[in-house]
Amino acid sequence: MTETLADFLDRLNHEIRLAGDWGSVADYIPELARVDPAQFGIAVALPDGRLLTAGDAETGFSIQSVSKVFSLAAVLGRIGEQLWLRVGREPSGDRFDSILLLEQEKGRPRNPFINAGALVVTDELLTGRTPRQALSELLGFIRAAAEDDAIHIDKAVARSEAETGHRNAALVHYLRSYGNLRNPPDHALGTYIHHCAIEMSCVQLARAGRFLAGLPDAPRMIAPRKVRRINALMMTCGQYDGSGNFAFRVGMPAKSGVGGGLLVIAPGKASIGIWSPGLDGWGNSLAGTLAAERLAEVTGWSVF
Ligand code: DON
Repeated sequence: MTETLADFLDRLNHEIRLAGDWGSVADYIPELARVDPAQFGIAVALPDGRLLTAGDAETGFSIQSVSKVFSLAAVLGRIGEQLWLRVGREPSGDRFDSILLLEQEKGRPRNPFINAGALVVTDELLTGRTPRQALSELLGFIRAAAEDDAIHIDKAVARSEAETGHRNAALVHYLRSYGNLRNPPDHALGTYIHHCAIEMSCVQLARAGRFLAGLPDAPRMIAPRKVRRINALMMTCGQYDGSGNFAFRVGMPAKSGVGGGLLVIAPGKASIGIWSPGLDGWGNSLAGTLAAERLAEVTGWSVF
């Protein structure tokens, strides 16, 4: 490519703002409904240690389901293979908060990224720990991955989801009824809601994802074999029932959140944090997905 990556990111930022096609912010968590959709940021961490940014790359946002990547990494690091007795590794083809398959498949969620599966991962995180300890351990994991101690939980977002999160409350009790939840349902739910409420910027996200991209300056968080597996799950399940479309358009492992964040991994090449709060019909960032697609086109970073 003749244009430098830094110049491309600037152009992308301008083009996305000019198009003004933002989608709509999530409104089932009232605190997220207050966010202005007309925002976009991107940060790209590279193997040589450079971090390129454009747009609102330093603005903090609610990472929501992107946190599921880090809870999965922390749990896989701690217990490893046993997790798969409790949660599967197949895309669900259903919405992220669906309960349908949970009854059909007797309380074993399809994968660790749909809400039911992430609640099981959070339950594992709680083994031998209080909710407060589990949260501080997870926050410690993310801070260590990003080498940034400023990363924190937005309490207002957590409170907002706690007041309205009846579907997750249903899921957690459903899991318990099938014997696939060891801790009290309100502990698992409260811990989950709080880790979804972690606030990060694109810069912090790109830095936290370096270990998943295998970048040379990344702190070693978990074994490379586990990193490969997390990337496989991000590729197949990271965007829920929009995962096939995302793989088709972007071709890189990624995880989305309803706050409009995206962590995209180009194995060996880059860790990318993208944010634009407006969502598409699957609950994934509209402009963020477009940005990832354009980035993949110009860099050739699709794994296919
Ligand atoms: O459990 C929820 O509904 C939210 N805390 C997270 C969902 C989410 O981010 C789905 N992603 N696109």
